[in-house]
Amino acid sequence: MDVRMDGWGALITGSSRGLGYAMALKFAQSGADVAICGRRADLLEKARASLAAQSQGKVSAFVADVSDADQVKALYEHSANELGKIDILVNNAGSSKTGISRRLRTRNFNATWTSSCSAPSA
Ligand SMILES: NC(=O)c1ccc[n+]([C@@H]2O[C@H](COP(=O)([O-])OP(=O)(O)OC[C@H]3O[C@@H](n4cnc5c(N)ncnc54)[C@H](OP(=O)(O)O)[C@@H]3O)[C@@H](O)[C@H]2O)c1
Repeated sequence: MDVRMDGWGALITGSSRGLGYAMALKFAQSGADVAICGRRADLLEKARASLAAQSQGKVSAFVADVSDADQVKALYEHSANELGKIDILVNNAGSSKTGISRRLRTRNFNATWTSSCSAPSA
């Protein structure tokens, strides 16, 4: 099914690779302007260039750690400014450590909680 999203602005967090990048590419190829983020500047720039080469709309990239409320605010402001508006937000950023519970550490739970649960409310 071909869904057109021309004129829409989409912010996808955690989009320098993986599912977030795949979603950003799909949005961009459907005509949306996209804003992406991640913590590693080199990966993010590679993703930005790749998205821009495969689509026609605006592609904004901003280095941010979504577990930090100040960085989330800066990400939103930068993205809204670059795209003109944000119509769609995909709270994708995060990582999940899976495995036997006795091997998981408190820091693993905390990292998952801050990126997946508390970040969207910042
Ligand atoms: N893949 C699966 O089977 C699966 C299943 C269930 C749920 N999920 C969830 O789906 C999401 C994406 O999964 P994935 O497999 O695509 O992950 P991935 O390949 O590890 O990619 C994660 C992306 O998020 C960014 N990221 C991670 N922590 C971040 C943070 N604190 N702030 C900003 N960016 C951050 C990473 O870039 P940097 O490292 O540079 O920041 C990267 O761009 C995650 O939330 C994951 O928990 C995935």
